[in-house]
Amino acid sequence: MKHAAIRDLLGCPAQFLGSNGYTFDLEDVIPVCGWVRTSRESKNVAFIEINDGSCLKNLQIVIDKERHERKEYEKAMPVGTSVMVTGFLVQSYRNGKELRMESMEVLGECPQDFPLQKKHHTLEYLRTIPHLRPRTKYFEAVLRVRGVLSFAIHEYFMTEGFTYVHTPIITGSDCEGAGEMFRVTTNAWDAKASSAEEYFSQDFFGAKAGLTVSGQLEGEMAAMGLGRIYTFGPTFRAEHSNTTRHAAEFWQIEPEVCFADLFDIMEIAESFIKSIINEVLGNCLDELEYLESQGAAGLRDRLWSVVHHDFGRISYTDAIEILKKSGKDFKYPVEWGVDLQTEHERYLTEEVFKKPVFVTDYPAKIKAFYMKQNPDGKTVAATDLLVPGIGEIIGCSEREADYEKLKAAMENRGMPLDAYQEYLDTRRYGSVPHSGFGLGFERMLMYVTGVQNIRDTLLFPRTVGSL
Ligand code: 4AD
Ligand code: MG
Repeated sequence: MKHAAIRDLLGCPAQFLGSNGYTFDLEDVIPVCGWVRTSRESKNVAFIEINDGSCLKNLQIVIDKERHERKEYEKAMPVGTSVMVTGFLVQSYRNGKELRMESMEVLGECPQDFPLQKKHHTLEYLRTIPHLRPRTKYFEAVLRVRGVLSFAIHEYFMTEGFTYVHTPIITGSDCEGAGEMFRVTTNAWDAKASSAEEYFSQDFFGAKAGLTVSGQLEGEMAAMGLGRIYTFGPTFRAEHSNTTRHAAEFWQIEPEVCFADLFDIMEIAESFIKSIINEVLGNCLDELEYLESQGAAGLRDRLWSVVHHDFGRISYTDAIEILKKSGKDFKYPVEWGVDLQTEHERYLTEEVFKKPVFVTDYPAKIKAFYMKQNPDGKTVAATDLLVPGIGEIIGCSEREADYEKLKAAMENRGMPLDAYQEYLDTRRYGSVPHSGFGLGFERMLMYVTGVQNIRDTLLFPRTVGSL
């Protein structure tokens, strides 16, 4: 259907190529399509505002009742109706550009039970109708930033000489070793077996399989030939964490860089985060402005400040000292050796640093097997990037490149070495110092949009107890 994008009409140069690929002359009758967001009628005119998803703004259709009979447009009055309208673009003194209707075609009627009749709905309510959320201004804004952010991520890595690789979604290895893998099976639900081995040997792959929690291990193998790679794909965790920051299905960006130590990868992570925020600031001004009006006050200033200041850096050991001396009554007590909880992370980044901060050199015991062991014998060359409002958004480390040390770390954790033989091979055949990180895409999106609940960053969120 030949039609103009509302974005182009509202920002229109004299003669333009619409983003839909058609050229229109502004003097001519112009066709537009969209969904009715509001409508009203007075004695002489009717107004219908439509939105086509090309920008947050609606286009106002003005219907002169002296020239058009009611039956020509009345079916287009209900909110949610989809229409194709033709008309002349005119400059109105009060409303900016409007379309003076010539003809109206209803593409799809919308009955009274359409749930989005009101102008404002709570986010909680909208979560109960995820299939209709993209029709709201809020989700249009969040999903557009999501798209721009994805593109910015690819652009950063492509410009920096990384190769995009696709790691498997179905896998046998639990990268994080936290036992949070979803199982993948075609066994009947009541399949019987005398042992686990027998049970899994009858399954589709002849072995226990699951959905990947991280593409890192396969990413490391690719980096061993390609030098610097990144993944960007869905990852899955069967964590029973019913929080505003955990989803069972989320997207992760995982670069892996050879010939790089922890400090090199921290530099990459910092420049990467700044670059993608900068792209969103440059390309999503309307969206950010709208999100600010919806509870994310000061969002653009905050993002600007992140781009223009150095991130903080502190060791885990020093962070523990600060937390102990804070005088705060934390729910989870702090002692050297404990994992940092969200309340600790947020105190450090929100109250101590007031900006993103890398916490480095965590105790080996609370981190994954693959991290490079520091000479002190207690800590590993790992860092988490914490940001205000959220806590951890990046998990990062230099990888243990020494075959014997890596094997010992796996044995210590009781891991089945034979299942990780290919991974261990990377340390036998030309091992190199290398480092990488994983950025949680939805947490990053929360950070740049000010969205408070991860469920509102995903089209169809999957969380514990909710599919
Ligand atoms: O810290 P994590 O567990 O690190 C890894 O998976 C490493 N293999 C990454 C790597 O080095 N290649 O997860 C990385 C990030 C977290 O910092 C967080 O932002 C996000 O993934 N994340 C989640 N996001 C949403 N829901 C969940 N359940 C998440 N679990 C982790
Ligand atoms: Mg982590």
